[in-house]
Amino acid sequence: MTAALPLAPTLTLAGGAQLPALALGTWPMDDSEAAVAVESALRLGYRHIDTAENYGNETGVGEGIRRSGVPREDVFITTKFNREWHSVDGVRAAFDSATKRLGVDYLDLFLIHWPNPDQDQYLEAARGLAELRNEGRIRARGVSNFTPAHLQRLIDAGITPEVCQIQLEPAHVSPEQQAFHREHGIITVAYSPLGRGASFLDSPEVQSAAAAHGKTPSQVVLRWHVQQGNGAAPKSASPARQRENLDIFDFALSDAEMRSISSLDTGEPWRLNPEEFGH
Ligand SMILES: NC(=O)c1ccc[n+]([C@@H]2O[C@H](COP(=O)([O-])OP(=O)(O)OC[C@H]3O[C@@H](n4cnc5c(N)ncnc54)[C@H](OP(=O)(O)O)[C@@H]3O)[C@@H](O)[C@H]2O)c1
Repeated sequence: MTAALPLAPTLTLAGGAQLPALALGTWPMDDSEAAVAVESALRLGYRHIDTAENYGNETGVGEGIRRSGVPREDVFITTKFNREWHSVDGVRAAFDSATKRLGVDYLDLFLIHWPNPDQDQYLEAARGLAELRNEGRIRARGVSNFTPAHLQRLIDAGITPEVCQIQLEPAHVSPEQQAFHREHGIITVAYSPLGRGASFLDSPEVQSAAAAHGKTPSQVVLRWHVQQGNGAAPKSASPARQRENLDIFDFALSDAEMRSISSLDTGEPWRLNPEEFGH
């Protein structure tokens, strides 16, 4: 076992919770893969794990946390719940089930996974989250795959989420969405932050920054994420790539490098349209 890396810096959420900027993504791992990957990541120095009811691996994530020996209170657990729980009582039931599967008694961050506007119950789900937050059962509350229009309804109801997790990488920068988050004090967390191995990793913009800093293209892209003040949740089942992905806090990209990587934005919509897709 090689030595652990320094811990990632944290981002302060509106309610005061500290979210480690670099998380381990766990989709599409099953329980046994997640247990192995989470144990490895925590031993390497990760302190934030991203899972979801829908991934079917919360039991494995909890097992990995216990195997790692890292105390529960030192690990930031993000999980997400499905559309069937979009009511005040439903969120309570989703919390009970998620904590049971994970083997923990509180969650650090609980997210509405998709808005499911056809069902039009996400406002009730957000009210349920606010109750859990007030009771101290969750440290922070948030959403995922919400557009500014969805977020605006929560803001108008006085329940602005602390986090919005979205598909975000150099080919999908969503500047208006990010500006909206900033304006309302919502922290952005990037999912699929490496674009699942997308072609921007081979672009001259990323390759030249990697060469200039003696880092890999993946490290440059993850640095680009966190240097904007965002969180990122890259998935890797490989201990070597987990280490690579966390080892991004000892260098800085120049303003010109940041701009040139942002210029890779295609302006294309997200892979999945939250007006149509959800679970
Ligand atoms: N909220 C949502 O709706 C939502 C949707 C999608 C994903 N997510 C979350 O975001 C996480 C990450 O997203 P993602 O899995 O779609 O995409 P990603 O993290 O951009 O890419 C993961 C892929 O890249 C590979 N990889 C990781 N690090 C690498 C490196 N340093 N060099 C080369 N290849 C590397 C992984 O393979 P190896 O495992 O072999 O390293 C895997 O095939 C998910 O696991 C999940 O937790 C959330």
